[in-house]
Amino acid sequence: MIGPEELLYLDSNATTAIDPAALASMRPFLEEFFANPSSGYGFAAQVRDAIEEAREQVAKLLGCEASEIVFTSGGTESNNTAFHSALEAAPDRRHVVTTAVEHSAVLRPAKDLETRGYAVTFLEVDESGQLNLNKLADAIRFDTALLSVMWANNETGVIFPIEEIAAIAREKNVPFHTDAVQAGGKIEIKLADVPLQFLSLSGHKFHGPKGVGALYVNRRARFRPLLLGGSHENNRRAGTENAASIIGFGKAAEIARAKMREEQVRVRGMRDRFERCLLERISGARVNGAGAERLPNTSSVMFDGIESDAALLMLDQKNLCCSAGSACRTGSLKPSHVLSAMGLLGDEARGSLRFSFSRFNTEAEVDRALKIVPEVIAKLRALAPAVTG
Ligand SMILES: Cc1ncc(COP(=O)(O)O)c(C=O)c1O
Repeated sequence: MIGPEELLYLDSNATTAIDPAALASMRPFLEEFFANPSSGYGFAAQVRDAIEEAREQVAKLLGCEASEIVFTSGGTESNNTAFHSALEAAPDRRHVVTTAVEHSAVLRPAKDLETRGYAVTFLEVDESGQLNLNKLADAIRFDTALLSVMWANNETGVIFPIEEIAAIAREKNVPFHTDAVQAGGKIEIKLADVPLQFLSLSGHKFHGPKGVGALYVNRRARFRPLLLGGSHENNRRAGTENAASIIGFGKAAEIARAKMREEQVRVRGMRDRFERCLLERISGARVNGAGAERLPNTSSVMFDGIESDAALLMLDQKNLCCSAGSACRTGSLKPSHVLSAMGLLGDEARGSLRFSFSRFNTEAEVDRALKIVPEVIAKLRALAPAVTG
């Protein structure tokens, strides 16, 4: 077992450590208040009340009304529900617009639609990972059932201009869904100002528990549930609520909101110093998406002449956790679809590593990483001198 003091965890876009206060808020609902929140007695009402408090906390993080929050099992379910709902609500519309750089929890449902006779447009991005909004507007057709564009990219941290995209969707009268799993808790979201129908959120990306998330459903959106059964979540998501996790998720949302301003500055400072020093110490390195607005915590770096899989093995020996693209891609030989869409060649995409920070990281950890990463890259290049050229 690796002790917490040896671990250098720079993979917060994969998941984060739970905040001790979020964990503490969950404990009573695992140990003591175990009632089914739907039961009629007072013992259950305590659990119901705590779930409603969590709904308020999540709504405050998003700047929306509590009644617009539906608790789910996480980002994947929220994304699938948004797709299902939009398509079921408009059965005559057989077209969907999304981007080529979405997480697999959007890409796979979108690709599955193609096998079921739908047309899907996957919008391309430029070399800094940005979308062309004119092309986005042009892609929307009379029969488009849904526009789905992520708020921030999980691999590069590139942020899309969601307010502008929502305005286009509204003008074209097309329901708009955004996968905000990486944006939630890291950058400000104020849904009161953004005309969108659906937004996906996941607890474990901002120090909440895993296996819990939310789908924001605009109160004016037509909604069709994915899971049918009991009347939970106001008939929008059947199944006995994961009470303790929902409560921990709510607490994590409250903490993220309270700390956001201050932590954005601190985490961005750490990330920027890490990138600056890395580029100074390692020749043939480049930050992917450097020209775009990015999440404050994410750093995707391309190193000439290395294979990220080999780098990950060596970094792992030093107990440094990071990833090549998304965690879901680990072990895959294919280059990242996100970096490929940004025009990186196979070798460039395969030579990229993603480091993602959180408010639990320290400057001392950045110093350790700045020692380890250049050593590992130099070793790898020494092993394959012909490639580095
Ligand atoms: C952008 C994005 N969407 C969706 C997901 C899936 O979320 P969950 O793990 O909660 O299902 C992730 C997780 O990596 C993600 O980064």
